[in-house]
Amino acid sequence: MRNFNEDNITSAVLASLSGCRDERTKQISEALVRHLHAFVKEIEPTEAEWSRAIALLTETGQMCSQTRQEFILLSDTLGVSMLVDAINHRFPGNATETTVLGPFYVEQARDFELGAHIASAQDGTPMIVEGNVRDSRGEPIAGALIETWHADDHGLYDVQRGTDKSALNLRARLRTDEAGRFWYRSIVPAAYPVPSDGPVGRMLDAQGRHPFRPAHVHFKVSAPGFETIVTHVFIAGDAYLDSDVVFGVKDALIAQLESIEGRMSPAGHAVEPATALLAYDFVLPRQR
Ligand code: BEZ
Ligand code: FE
Repeated sequence: MRNFNEDNITSAVLASLSGCRDERTKQISEALVRHLHAFVKEIEPTEAEWSRAIALLTETGQMCSQTRQEFILLSDTLGVSMLVDAINHRFPGNATETTVLGPFYVEQARDFELGAHIASAQDGTPMIVEGNVRDSRGEPIAGALIETWHADDHGLYDVQRGTDKSALNLRARLRTDEAGRFWYRSIVPAAYPVPSDGPVGRMLDAQGRHPFRPAHVHFKVSAPGFETIVTHVFIAGDAYLDSDVVFGVKDALIAQLESIEGRMSPAGHAVEPATALLAYDFVLPRQR
């Protein structure tokens, strides 16, 4: 293997993979080489540009810590996370659409009873979240686990305010009742920027993009025998619905916040005046 140039180096690198023992590793390595070489041939980087690309990736790694994953953020903001999500959740029929998990999910959140208020300090607009979990034939799924989390009225998650477990707020684990229903109280979340004080923020700025996500509530819904749905419910009317920096918005995941005039929600739960209702039903596909 000698005398490589622009015309023969790609096939030489591909040929070097012929001894790869694992078929999948071989397939992935070959595709990586083909696409990477095609990318370089298309953009014809200067050496200074290539050094800057290496520096960006180096800083992305250096920015990662226990509480920050800059590589996932890079994948999110380049649309790769949503692409991987779409490929892995090709659910049939009327299953609820999925979106990215995001970096603010906490596995060990607190368990709450249905109807609980999950905001520790209750400034912000009161919100009641109500819905049902059903299978694709419309049958209720009792005992489904709802994990939910969202930003506060300033667009910050609890984990951005403090890393201590006692600081956990605006997140909960709940179980649906015998009729597949769930409901809880919280406050209306605000839109927020993804962390933009690192290399991803600089990339977005250089690309002429803002760092915002439209206001949303995260859900992870699971039940034995069913596929787990990881998704968000977005709030209709948000200014960023058509420019979500991580490309997570789908029409079917947008819900209107309704102001409740009386003292009862549509599902019959008592609420304080000026409460906003976020109603959303989930459909879980059966595991195949
Ligand atoms: C989130 O919605 O929590 C999120 C998703 C992707 C990147 C940053 C934040
Ligand atoms: Fe979020």
